[in-house]
Amino acid sequence: MDRIAITGGRPLHGEISISGAKNACLTLMPAALLSDEPLELTNVPRLADIEMMTKILVSLGASVELSEQGRRLVITAKKFEQHLAHYDLVRKMRASILVLGPMLAREHEAVVSLPGGCAIGARPVDLHLKGLEKLGADLELRTGYVHAKAPGGLKGAEIDFPFVSVGATENLMMAATLAKGVTVLKNAAKEPEIVDLARCLRKMGAEIDGEGSDVIEIEGVDRLKGASHRVLPDRIELGTYMLAPAITGGEVELIGGKRRLVSALVEKLEEADIEVADTENGMRVKRRNGHIDALDIATSPYPGFPTDLQAQMMALMTLAKGTSRFEETIFENRYMHAPELMRMGAKIDVQGGVAHVHGVERLTGAPVMATDLRASVSLVLAGLAAEGETLVNRVYHLDRGYEQVEDKLRACGAQIERLKD
Ligand code: EPZ
Repeated sequence: MDRIAITGGRPLHGEISISGAKNACLTLMPAALLSDEPLELTNVPRLADIEMMTKILVSLGASVELSEQGRRLVITAKKFEQHLAHYDLVRKMRASILVLGPMLAREHEAVVSLPGGCAIGARPVDLHLKGLEKLGADLELRTGYVHAKAPGGLKGAEIDFPFVSVGATENLMMAATLAKGVTVLKNAAKEPEIVDLARCLRKMGAEIDGEGSDVIEIEGVDRLKGASHRVLPDRIELGTYMLAPAITGGEVELIGGKRRLVSALVEKLEEADIEVADTENGMRVKRRNGHIDALDIATSPYPGFPTDLQAQMMALMTLAKGTSRFEETIFENRYMHAPELMRMGAKIDVQGGVAHVHGVERLTGAPVMATDLRASVSLVLAGLAAEGETLVNRVYHLDRGYEQVEDKLRACGAQIERLKD
């Protein structure tokens, strides 16, 4: 397995271009199943997760043409060869569950493996399933698969989510576009990726209102047509790289960065005495007075502080003046980066969903283990600031969500290289 070696302690200076949003693509790609015409997606990031989703769509019978070095996809689901999303594919990427809604809506049947949990939590899909039943689907759970049928098609309904779920909002929004009648999603997720999906579905002929608010209304139509859609910038990649000059010192411009995508992070960075300035091509980040002030961070659904930036912000706070408090409210086990950061000299107390980070003068490089996508990149950030060499193992986690991470950081002066095993 590849590893990444970093010799830290060097301030970063330069530019980093932000790629298209992984988590937008993982719902925009299955949206192509709703139509028999081609859906063109541009500004697609080149990531392992995109390759996995491509495999799943092709296994169902869709054609996926890649061009422009994989940044442009044309997906055509003219007809389905089969209606089964296999465990072997789904277990490797939980977002595969997002083929369920579109396939059921279009084909009136679907068999999709339950995704199972992952390192950060059990991650059930009960909201997805209950919502589809509300739309008239008959669901049966057998041998780890969801067997779904909707003879005569899905019917619009009102669905009131007990708590916010990004994936359930996406799955049900897609399913509702072809259901007969009106569907109202209450307590819907408001993430920018939801808004991006709604915009793409509307280009395909869907009748959708309210995306970005907590009530989304969808009036079903008979069929959807092809469209062309440019994927929005990845706000989690953006936020991650904004933390790089903050943790190392120096100054980096994030090309393509948009403040509105990371407003909760910007607010917290300003509080920590980190300067975030808008530029003609994006945003520029640097320390204002050479130090980092401690913060209180509680994750929450958009527009709150994103859980996907919690690990990265914790890396920054290991070097802050004072004690920071984190509360992770979305996932039950998302502090696995803490023990690894402690191997580098960080002082962190974790009690259930709350972590206290006592700032230290410096971190020292060490061999560390990546456990999930965002935890692994928090170790890279820490390694950039630490004195000496950090060796990040299990880098395949990183490759799922960060395109050419070592190239982007090396271009800003980081001493970082990938060691191929
Ligand atoms: C999406 O996951 C993202 N993944 C996650 O990013 C992100 O952390 C998460 O939203 C929250 O913002 C993609 O978009 C592909 P949820 P998702 O449904 O949709 C529980 C990354 O690093 N829940 O909003 O799976 C769930 O267990 C990944 O890029 C149920 O209990 O998240 C979690 O505790 C990690 N039942 C909470 O709700 C359900 O039916 C929020 O989950 C669905 C979710």
